[in-house]
Amino acid sequence: MKQMMSFTINGAIFEGEIDHRRTLLEVLRESFGLFGTHKGCDEGHCGACTVIVDGKAVNSCLVLAATVQGKEITTIEGLAQEDKLHPIQDAFVKAGAIQCGFCTPGMIMTTKAFLHKNPNPSEEEIKYALSGNLCRCTGYYQIVEAVKIAAAQMRKEA
Ligand code: FES
Ligand code: FES
Repeated sequence: MKQMMSFTINGAIFEGEIDHRRTLLEVLRESFGLFGTHKGCDEGHCGACTVIVDGKAVNSCLVLAATVQGKEITTIEGLAQEDKLHPIQDAFVKAGAIQCGFCTPGMIMTTKAFLHKNPNPSEEEIKYALSGNLCRCTGYYQIVEAVKIAAAQMRKEA
């Protein structure tokens, strides 16, 4: 059954007739064309679909869209400011942490929520924070380096 739903995504209002069984991931991609949030396993195992809801990183494939109406949703499309990359995006590029790029939006959104809570993390804390995000390409070393670079840059800018 469809009903009119309204969402706040990246600071803008998105509305549509949405089936109440649709997940947030499905709605982002199929209803609103926000394809930066990737669909991997669709079962909560890979982290490719990670977005931020009210400051918390969540697997959007496990969240019913209807339950996040009225919350602040941030997707990868909401990070860059005009033509300037967010420091986390910039760090991923600089560290060579992007190969095929499939995991990258989820990695970056997890990193954003994590660094907001812990701006000066240890390597172990970074690895633990990213443990729900899988990457088949990089071997993770460059991703951990990217998070360190981003954290340092964001502390400088704070
Ligand atoms: S697509 Fe959501 S965790 Fe894999
Ligand atoms: S860069 Fe390919 S899955 Fe991570």
